Amino acid sequence: MKKTILMLAAFFLTGAAFAQQTHPLLQHEAEITEIIKGMTLEEKVNMLHGKNMFSSAGIERLGIPDIEYADGPFGIREEMEPHSWRPLGWETDKATFFPTGSALAATWCPGIAYEYGKGMAIEAKLRGKDMILGQAMNIQRLPTGGRTYEYLSEDPLLSGVLAVGYTKGSQDQNEAVCLKHFAVNSQENMRGFVNANISERALREIYLTPFEMAVKQADAMGVMAAYNKVWGKWCSENDMLQNRILRNEWGFKGIIISDWGGTHSTVGAAIGGLDVEMPGHDYMGQALVDSVKSGAVPMEVIDSKVRNLLRVRFAITPVPKDVANTKVTSQPETQAIAYKVASKSIVLLKNDNGLLPLTKKMKKIAVIGDNATRTMGLGGVGAGVKTLYEVTPLEGLQKALKGKATIRYARGYEPAPRARWGQQLSEDAMKEYEKKMAAYKKEALKVAKGADIVLFIGGNNREVETEGSDRTTIQLPFQQDELLKAIAEVNPNIVAVMVAGAPVDLREVKNVAKGIVYSWFNGTEGGNALADVLTGKISPSGKLPFTFPVKLEDSPAYALGVYPQQEQGGGDVFVNLVNRDRFQERKADADYTEGILVGYRWYATKNVKPMYPFGYGLSYVPFKYSNLSAKVAESSIEVTFDLANQGSMEAEEVTQVYIGRPDSKVERPKYELKGFRRVAVKAGETTKVTVTIPIENLRHWNEFQHAWNIEKGKAVIYVGGSSADFPLQTEVTL
Ligand code: BGC
Repeated sequence: MKKTILMLAAFFLTGAAFAQQTHPLLQHEAEITEIIKGMTLEEKVNMLHGKNMFSSAGIERLGIPDIEYADGPFGIREEMEPHSWRPLGWETDKATFFPTGSALAATWCPGIAYEYGKGMAIEAKLRGKDMILGQAMNIQRLPTGGRTYEYLSEDPLLSGVLAVGYTKGSQDQNEAVCLKHFAVNSQENMRGFVNANISERALREIYLTPFEMAVKQADAMGVMAAYNKVWGKWCSENDMLQNRILRNEWGFKGIIISDWGGTHSTVGAAIGGLDVEMPGHDYMGQALVDSVKSGAVPMEVIDSKVRNLLRVRFAITPVPKDVANTKVTSQPETQAIAYKVASKSIVLLKNDNGLLPLTKKMKKIAVIGDNATRTMGLGGVGAGVKTLYEVTPLEGLQKALKGKATIRYARGYEPAPRARWGQQLSEDAMKEYEKKMAAYKKEALKVAKGADIVLFIGGNNREVETEGSDRTTIQLPFQQDELLKAIAEVNPNIVAVMVAGAPVDLREVKNVAKGIVYSWFNGTEGGNALADVLTGKISPSGKLPFTFPVKLEDSPAYALGVYPQQEQGGGDVFVNLVNRDRFQERKADADYTEGILVGYRWYATKNVKPMYPFGYGLSYVPFKYSNLSAKVAESSIEVTFDLANQGSMEAEEVTQVYIGRPDSKVERPKYELKGFRRVAVKAGETTKVTVTIPIENLRHWNEFQHAWNIEKGKAVIYVGGSSADFPLQTEVTL
């Protein structure tokens, strides 16, 4: 017995030593120690804050270059003046607009996330950047959350698997990532000061797990501290999050940088684990030098931050200044990746009587809606992409249907004029808008009448879904419901294509449209991908990464009345950059009362019927699931089943495995996603699918022991194509 323990210990020690040697950030430790020994305090502190808006300093004396950062997450942001947000107006910085986070997540495919990360990295390199400020991966807790379109999913496993793919894809190209925003940045309203009151279990199981996966499984080199507070402490000085969990527990070896303007103190941030204050030096400049001299911050703390920075600097080969920006950022190779992601992200929600794909008989096609011609690379607050090109839905359709059908387009509606900050829209402006809208409607009805099919292309836009503020409603904006109702009276053959990054209220749309397609903010190639799905060149294969509630009040935080919190002026866009005192003083609490019952976990457990469940998405072919078997191996559960494509075209299906623990001693959701796999099946063929679920995925956080536990006993395994429809079910015992 003793011998076995010794052998095991030896194995683990060798394993650990091996991991140390192969970690990409631990290849130059001795060299770094020597460099630090020779540095002055001022030189060290000079590295620990923004030099420019998007860089932090290297060591000039030693020829060690600065670290260059790039927003992320869905395309490399355009170049701006060194100390402002003013664009430089270059030509070479036109980048590929990749589908945004929720679109990537709708692919449910780590391989695609890998390519996405690779594509972003190739472009970042062309621009001379060392670290991408992405993946953005906070849990989509609220359907109204302003950055839902940037984030991945309401589920931690789906978010984590994709973040691992993205991180590996980018870092394999020698481009560092910066996972953001750590942690619990689940709302934009009051993000600059709101405090998350959250149970330890929900924090661990839901909100931290995706970060943990990307740090442990993909060696992510950077993490960005969120603006908000968790357990009463600013994230940027949160010892529990940054030192104890991220570094000590997960073994993170890279740099923690603040969100822009998200630093609030010198000693607190330095001791609390922050490495770099961005973008200025209010707290981690001279004040930090003084704090070290006074003894409030030990020199070892400074040295370890410099070490973290040098680790990243040594791991990432700098791009010479005269090489960067010599070629246009967007390249055919990366545009092809954007197409691939988009084509596998589109979700078919409804298709009565197989109205889609479009048939040869449909000769007269009406395209109606503002989003048919609107580009989505830029808009709203925060990072966007100045894209080299963006194929709109209308352009995509025109190209795909050239010579096959006639397309007539009507705008149908336009976004309402916006009042200036803090002001009301004038009555005259409102009247003018109503007049315009009436004319749009008239034209739309004329175009719809007599068409073989109406493709209504609406949804949200990048002003409606934006960083800095949450939506107040999920209602379709700009009177789209009314317009759809009117169109249905003159032509009932409507397919509604929703261009959006977050859920909308589909009650009216579902009443009047025979088909519903969710096509996201889908990037440079979005219009081509949409046209290929609508025309049936490819079968839709995206699945929802979040739940569509029937109505907003059904979603957990709204149902429990814990969101919205007391409104104090809504969004706070630039946080500490604009008015520091105001944000230091303001207080608001967000109570995460729903605990672990986020998203579908809530709907399934509380028996609330959603409009469309998490994981849902139709195909042009029927898939049949059969022959389920599951067996428990040493460290995993092997789930195997047959998947038959009973249609007449090749198609892909995202197969999903959920597990319930009915005899659990702790509160559990009815079931949770534990594994998934995207599978391609040829027409008429059957494939054997195996999903391997690490038993570790079944862990839960024990709040008494403050540790992960895996319960023994019965595990019910549900298999199917969404979180609410399980053609197969079995049980195993752990
Ligand atoms: C956002 C970050 C972003 C940073 C720099 C902040 O407002 O929250 O996600 O990386 O600005 O643009």
